[in-house]
Amino acid sequence: QDDICAQRITAAKNKLGKRVIILAHHYQRADVYKYADLTGDSLKLSYLAAQTNADYLVFCGVHFMAEVADILSSSEQTVILPDLAAGCSMADMASLSKVEHAWRELAEILDPEEVITPITYINSAADLKAFCGEHGGIVCTSSNATKILEWSFAQREKVLFFPDQHLGRWSGHKLGIPLDEMLVWDFDEPMGGLTPEQIKKAKILLWKGHCSVHQMFQPQHILRFRNQYPDGLVISHPECSYEVCKASDYVGSTEYIINTISKAKAGTRWLVGTELNLVSRISEEFKSQEKIVQFMSPMVCMCSTMARIDPQHLAWALENLVNEKVVNQIKVPVDESKLAKLALTRMLEIS
Ligand code: 13P
Ligand code: SF4
Repeated sequence: QDDICAQRITAAKNKLGKRVIILAHHYQRADVYKYADLTGDSLKLSYLAAQTNADYLVFCGVHFMAEVADILSSSEQTVILPDLAAGCSMADMASLSKVEHAWRELAEILDPEEVITPITYINSAADLKAFCGEHGGIVCTSSNATKILEWSFAQREKVLFFPDQHLGRWSGHKLGIPLDEMLVWDFDEPMGGLTPEQIKKAKILLWKGHCSVHQMFQPQHILRFRNQYPDGLVISHPECSYEVCKASDYVGSTEYIINTISKAKAGTRWLVGTELNLVSRISEEFKSQEKIVQFMSPMVCMCSTMARIDPQHLAWALENLVNEKVVNQIKVPVDESKLAKLALTRMLEIS
């Protein structure tokens, strides 16, 4: 089965030549990642998508990444997500209706347009990026969130950060904002579960969202590792909890994690708090540099939605293109795309 798929993908890629480009996020499973022409974290993939000239961009990642590629590429280019079920559970934790509701509730006690910058993590639907574009806000990724917060505070005194509370809290902490000035906005409660006094005092309102993969990593995993390997180093993704980030030696995006371990000395041992496919891949790769790379959790923490993009779906999507048939196209409506592009461009200019 694997061999047949490999032959189908290679044959279709050869027939399409430069007309197609395959982009893959670092969490992509190994049997798909190996076909990628371009790889990266969310920020790098955004830049790459904006630069490529190919007719077809086949995105091996999750839905919001393909939407960003569609927004940033030209209108003649076509973006394809090989399996439309490849979503992001964190992105699904914030919806436009809930964010608009929060904005209206906030307007009862202050003027959000004057006082609050909405920031959406790139892990969100295009309509939320459009909301940010419309309301003087911006997009951020895990590699530029602190810089984006800094920019936001230069515009307005407060931030509404969605959907990932952990990235927002860690980035605010890096800017020196005390934890008690970063409050969770519980969208299931009236007024986010906060009093008007709390809202007036808060610098950052953190949407009650999280990544189900990264929430599995715990401070005790780090403690156990440090007891066993006192010279070992710990690196985590900022979607991990504040406690995990605080207990780590380094915190950063997937690209940052790869680069940091790549530049480290031979003989170092690393505990890594991010998705399993990435950790397994670099663990193999860095063996030749005599570095030991270990996964943080005893549990299997995989981005199961990204893993839906399998060789079968990739082969199917490419073969349809060979037959001039587009399947699983991701197309953001024009008006939404324009506003979302505004928020994304603000980010790309600052990054
Ligand atoms: P990166 O910004 O590191 O690509 O992370 C994206 C993501 O979804 C992590 O869960
Ligand atoms: Fe979304 Fe978490 Fe998967 Fe990243 S790892 S794409 S945040 S579900």
